[in-house]
Amino acid sequence: MIEFRNVNKIIDGRTILNNLNFTINKGELIVFIGPSGCGKTTTLKMINKLITPTSGQILINGNKIETEDTIQLRRNMGYVIQQTGLFPHMTIKENIGLIPSIQKVPEDKINDKVVELLNLVGLNPDDYMNKYPSELSGGQQQRIGIARALVMNPEVILMDEPFSALDPITRNQLQDEIFNIQQTFKKTIIFVTHDMDEALKLADRICIMNKGSIVQFDTPAEILQNPANDFVREFVGKNRIWAQPELIKVKDIMIKNPVKSSPNRTIIQAIGIMHSNHVDSLLIVNESNHLIGFITLKQIRRNLDRSEKVSDIMERELITVNEEESIVQVLKKIKKEDIGYVPVVDDEFKLTGLITKSSLLTILSNQFLDVEADI
Ligand SMILES: Nc1ncnc2c1ncn2[C@@H]1O[C@H](COP(=O)(O)OP(=O)(O)OP(=O)(O)O)[C@@H](O)[C@H]1O
Ligand SMILES: [Mg+2]
Repeated sequence: MIEFRNVNKIIDGRTILNNLNFTINKGELIVFIGPSGCGKTTTLKMINKLITPTSGQILINGNKIETEDTIQLRRNMGYVIQQTGLFPHMTIKENIGLIPSIQKVPEDKINDKVVELLNLVGLNPDDYMNKYPSELSGGQQQRIGIARALVMNPEVILMDEPFSALDPITRNQLQDEIFNIQQTFKKTIIFVTHDMDEALKLADRICIMNKGSIVQFDTPAEILQNPANDFVREFVGKNRIWAQPELIKVKDIMIKNPVKSSPNRTIIQAIGIMHSNHVDSLLIVNESNHLIGFITLKQIRRNLDRSEKVSDIMERELITVNEEESIVQVLKKIKKEDIGYVPVVDDEFKLTGLITKSSLLTILSNQFLDVEADI
């Protein structure tokens, strides 16, 4: 939905942005992060035409923004900044309703919208509608900033360090709210921050910038596990998986093609499959790939009549994990149930992967070795 093609910005002979290329999909929450002066704000302001590129192109829904009507374009983009930019002499209601009232939206409609938005950002409309910004705390003002950005129901929301001046608790609450708003309304959100914790908590994908260039643009899990270079590694912090294992999802680390078999195979065939794949157990799935059981070589050995089918002897009691769960939950299960591997299923209980104790250890120890090497 938003695409940068070879975008450069040069000011007074200095390269501020160097050949940016990326695509942001509809409904994604993208976080831009990087050291001060690396070009995050400049990049963001190009999206709503506050800054024009020196060369290259920016497209929104396939249209070049230079040919789009600027007012129209900005109306479809909420913009939230650190200094909320609320008008001090206007009430909260007037601040949120400013643009609709300029557009001559009927008064009662504006009123309804303001009530709805105040509820959405967790402020009681009766208490706050008629207050002035100076009567609100920083966190509450920022909530108004978010409500105002949502008032025209824009497709895109641009947020430039919106929470950086807030205390950690308020900040956490607002992060949760943005996350929920994005989940509920599927807005495309582009969020700038200095804070890696914030980025990891919010982002579908993170764009790490340095000195005007993109260093890595990837999912949080990929950035944690496969940092593109030393700069990213340094920036992310090396013991991040240990510090925040709940961020790593099962689907990011599972073995994607576990060895499996139909329940209708003979035991002889099952042994053949195990043998050729060098495994000592098989996951059993039906024709629509639903996980229905497993068998192990041990079970087969106990069962001497080799003419039987897999379905006759397979174990049907299964311990599984959902692919969206975190590795913390997997570790807990492995420990509690004392098992060496766990099949991974999706919401419909279809088999999508496998986690083994040793694959888990490899992931964790790679991180651990990185930390060790540092000491
Ligand atoms: N109008 C301007 N004239 C000259 N240089 C500028 C202008 N605007 C930005 N710059 C320079 O461009 C670079 C990128 O600035 P930008 O504000 O995009 O950085 P940033 O990543 O948002 O930094 P911060 O994290 O401090 O907000 C900086 O070196 C800045 O000094
Ligand atoms: Mg900035």
